[in-house]
Amino acid sequence: MDFFSRSPEQTRRIGVRLGGALQAGDVICLQGDLGAGKTTFVQGIAHGWGSIDSVSSPTFILVNVYRRADQAQLFHMDAYRLDSAPEAEELDLDMMLAQGPLLIEWPERIDGLVPDEALWVKFEHVDEEEREMKFKSHGKRYDELLGVIRHALGGD
Ligand SMILES: Nc1ncnc2c1ncn2[C@@H]1O[C@H](COP(=O)(O)OP(=O)(O)O)[C@@H](O)[C@H]1O
Ligand SMILES: [Mg+2]
Repeated sequence: MDFFSRSPEQTRRIGVRLGGALQAGDVICLQGDLGAGKTTFVQGIAHGWGSIDSVSSPTFILVNVYRRADQAQLFHMDAYRLDSAPEAEELDLDMMLAQGPLLIEWPERIDGLVPDEALWVKFEHVDEEEREMKFKSHGKRYDELLGVIRHALGGD
C-alpha cells in the first residue's frame, strides 16, 4: 500500500493511529534514507501509544525505551550505527518483544535478527515536505495493522 504524506504533521498523525493499535510483540520496520521521516513517524507512534517520554533519535545508545503511565514500554531502535553482526547479536530482541512493541530504524543493518513477521514501512523523499510511504505487511497480525493504517488514511 502506498501513500504520499504532504507534511511532517500528516506523517505524525498516521503514526498516532498506528501507535494506538500497537501491542507487546509487534514489530515495525522503518526504512529510508536520513531525513526521510522515520523518526517523525515514530514521534506519532509513541504519542498514539501513550508515551509519557518524548522521542529522540537513539544516537549514542542503540535503543530508546519510552514509558507509559501503566508501566508498559515501547522500544525504539536505530540500527544505523551497527556495523558488526556480533554487536547486533547482543541485542536481546526477544526480551524487548516480550515487554512491548519494537520500532526499528535501519532494519536492513540487522538483517538476520528481524522477525519474519513485521510491518514494513519504506519512506522516500519526494519533495521538501512530501514523502512517499510504502506499507507492507508480513503476517496476519500485520495485515490487521495495515487495516488500521488504511482506515487512518481514508479518514485523513
Ligand atoms: N511529509 C513529511 N513526513 C515526515 N517528515 C517530513 C515531511 N516533510 C518534511 N519532513 C521533515 O523531514 C525530516 C525528517 O527527519 P527524521 O524524521 O528524523 O528522518 P529519519 O529518521 O528518517 O532520518 C524532519 O525535519 C521533518 O520535519
Ligand atoms: Mg531517524
